[in-house]
Amino acid sequence: MDSRHLSLMDFMNKGEQNIVDLADRFNEFEQDMFARRHVNYRRVSLTGSAPVMRVIDPYDGFEREMIYFASNDYLNLTRHPRTIEAGRKALEKYGTGAGSVPLLGGTLDIHIELEQKVAKFKGCEAALIFSSGFGSNAGAIAALLGEEGIPICDTLVHASILDGCIGKTVKFFRHNDMESLEKTLKRLEDRKVTKLVMVDGVYSMDGDIAKLDEICEIAHRYGALVYVDEAHSTGVIGDTGRGTPEYYHLEGKVDIVAGTCSKALGVVGGFIASSQKIIQYLYYYARSYMFSTAPTPQAVASISEALDVILEEPQLREKLWQNIRYFKKGLEDLHVDLGDAETAIFPIIISDDYKVKEMCRELHENNIYVNPVVYPAVPKRLARLRFSLMQGHEKEHLDKALNIMEYLLKKYEVKQK
Ligand SMILES: Cc1ncc(COP(=O)(O)O)c(C=O)c1O
Repeated sequence: MDSRHLSLMDFMNKGEQNIVDLADRFNEFEQDMFARRHVNYRRVSLTGSAPVMRVIDPYDGFEREMIYFASNDYLNLTRHPRTIEAGRKALEKYGTGAGSVPLLGGTLDIHIELEQKVAKFKGCEAALIFSSGFGSNAGAIAALLGEEGIPICDTLVHASILDGCIGKTVKFFRHNDMESLEKTLKRLEDRKVTKLVMVDGVYSMDGDIAKLDEICEIAHRYGALVYVDEAHSTGVIGDTGRGTPEYYHLEGKVDIVAGTCSKALGVVGGFIASSQKIIQYLYYYARSYMFSTAPTPQAVASISEALDVILEEPQLREKLWQNIRYFKKGLEDLHVDLGDAETAIFPIIISDDYKVKEMCRELHENNIYVNPVVYPAVPKRLARLRFSLMQGHEKEHLDKALNIMEYLLKKYEVKQK
C-alpha cells in the first residue's frame, strides 16, 4: 500500500467493513508510513516533558536527545520542585488514589480546596474538578445542553467540545468571525431553549485568541450563554496568567469557564468554573464527573501548587513570552505566514500533507521534536508543522529550530509571505 495518497480519513470506521479487516488494512497503511519514516507519533520519552528530552528513535531503537517543541507544558511546571513536592506529600498522606467517584466517597478535603482555588483563580463563584480535560468538556457540555439545547461552535473548537455535542446538530460560525456568530444567533432568535456559544480561549492548532469580549456581548444580547475552553490560555495569557477572561478584563462575566490541568498546570485533569448553581447541577448531571473516580491526591495537590506558582512566580510566564517574541520574530524574518498566532503555539502552514511529513522526518533526524498536523485534523490546504514553546527553552534551542526551518522551507519550496 502506498500511504502517500491516503489519510486517516480512508480508514474511518463507517460500519461497512468488519473492524478486523479494516484494522488489517490500516496496519498496511501504517507499515508503509513507517517505512517512509513518517510515523512521528507516540515517540517514547525516557525523561518526561522538558525542553530537551531523551527519546527512543522508533526507526533504529537508539536513544536521541531532542529539543522538544510538542509539549503543552508551557511553564515547565511538570518538573517544578514545588509541584513535585506538593504531589509527593499528598501521595504519602492520602495514598495513590481517591478510591471512588466524587459523589460516592471519593471527595477529599484537597478536592474541595482545589475547587475553591480554581473558582477564585478564574473569577467565578464555584468550580468542579474532573479527571481529564477531555472529560470535563464532553460531560459538562452534554449536561448543559440536555436534550433540546443548541450548541453553537466556532469551527475550530477542540474535539472534546464536539464530543459534548454528540447527537445534536451543531450550528457552526466561521472562526472568530463576529458577523457569522451574530447571523447564526439571529437565525435562532425565536428558539427559547438553552443556546450555548462555545469557543476555545486560545486555539490549539492556530495559537490565536478568541475575541471573547465581542463574543460575550453578542451572545448575551441574543440570550445565549458563553462557554470558553481555557486549555491553552491558563497560565499563558492575562496580566497574571489567569487566561482569556483576564486578558479581556471579563472576569465573572463569562458564563462557563472550562479548562484542563494538563497543560500550563503540568498535571492532568480538567475543571469547569461557573455560578454556584450551575456547578451544583453538574455534580449530578455531568456523567464524566459523576461516573468517574475523582482525580488522584497527587494530581490534586500538584495542580493546587501549580496555581500558586503561576501567581507567585510571574518570571516563568515572562520568560515564556520572551521566547514567544524571539521565535515569532525569527519566523517572520523567514517570511513564514503565522496567521493570527499570538501565543505559545506556532502553526507553520506548509499546505501539503506529504511535504509536512517529509519535513517532520528531517526535523526528527536533526533532533527537533515537532508534530505534523495533516488532514483530517486540518483541511489539506492548511497542513502544517506545529511548534509549541516552553519557558525553559533557551535561545540556542530556538536558534537551532529556526536554522533548520530556514533550510527546510527552501528545500521544500514552501510558499512564503
Ligand atoms: C483546547 C483543548 N481542550 C481540551 C483538551 C483536553 O484536555 P486533556 O488533554 O487535559 O484531557 C485539549 C487537549 O489536548 C485541548 O487542546
